[in-house]
Amino acid sequence: MEKDFVTLTYTLPEAHIVERRPAAKAPIALAKEARRALGELRKYLRSDFERTSQYVKDSYEKQYRTSNAKWYRNYTDRKMVMPRIEGDKIIVSDKLVILSAHMQMLSHIFDQLDCRSVLDVGSGRGNNVIALASLRPEREYYGLELTQSGHERSLEWEKDLKEKAMPLVGIGEDMERVDFRKIHFLHGNAMTMPLPDKSVDASYTTLVLEQMPRDYPKALSEMRRVTKKYCVFIESFRESLTLADKLDLKNRDYFRFSYKTFEKYGLRPVFFSTKFLRKNKFSTGLLIAEVT
Ligand SMILES: C[S@@+](CC[C@H](N)C(=O)[O-])C[C@H]1O[C@@H](n2cnc3c(N)ncnc32)[C@H](O)[C@@H]1O
Repeated sequence: MEKDFVTLTYTLPEAHIVERRPAAKAPIALAKEARRALGELRKYLRSDFERTSQYVKDSYEKQYRTSNAKWYRNYTDRKMVMPRIEGDKIIVSDKLVILSAHMQMLSHIFDQLDCRSVLDVGSGRGNNVIALASLRPEREYYGLELTQSGHERSLEWEKDLKEKAMPLVGIGEDMERVDFRKIHFLHGNAMTMPLPDKSVDASYTTLVLEQMPRDYPKALSEMRRVTKKYCVFIESFRESLTLADKLDLKNRDYFRFSYKTFEKYGLRPVFFSTKFLRKNKFSTGLLIAEVT
């Protein structure tokens, strides 16, 4: 692992932030964490839920039926703010803020590692690809999504953005710079990707392995096959979780495993960090793995 392999940088979109406050002092935080762990332990003793790929497909098919404009209104609604954690601070904001921080970090990572083509695995309604393309339109982008409805919404961004400017990073980026000729949305499964070997410089997932707690090795092998240089993951790695988080994720049957196992699938971890804006429950880590 190389501590300075990349630097993680982003500018918070101030217009989307409602409040900043210090995180709870250690004894209070510890007491809250213990209470949460106890609650999760009680659920754990009763729970035997298994996250199957059919369950995942059905739930996301429904989610992506809403239009991109409606999704954007929801993501920027200042009445629906949430607390996030950044170091020893709580940042209360709308949902766009975490998307903004993630996409700026990824874009800077791809700059630093000279990745000119990138694949988003589990690209949902395509918002992350469009956000990245608004920051760096000259890159080539691929977005692979399991659900039909997510794929359909992805293809609608070009039309939707003509009707309404929806800045997805919220830091003054110009959405008119998005070059749709360089964006390719694909409908398919991460376990059998419809892409040739070594077709992109980098591939990434944001909160997608979390949905495949048993099958993720197949997705990792496919990412390795289609990627030339690096795979980047923002996921709920064991190394970023508290005890209560681990129980919570077990109860929901989410991915909750160590990034150290990735080496087995030909992905050598070179950088790992949890030092960025994160959810306050089952928080995420950012891993960069080199294709070996
Ligand atoms: C929590 S959402 C995250 C979406 C997007 N990456 C984001 O950050 O907004 C998980 C996504 O992974 C997709 N997904 C789950 N299993 C998949 C698979 N086997 N192949 C492709 N996509 C998959 C789901 O359909 C869903 O769009």
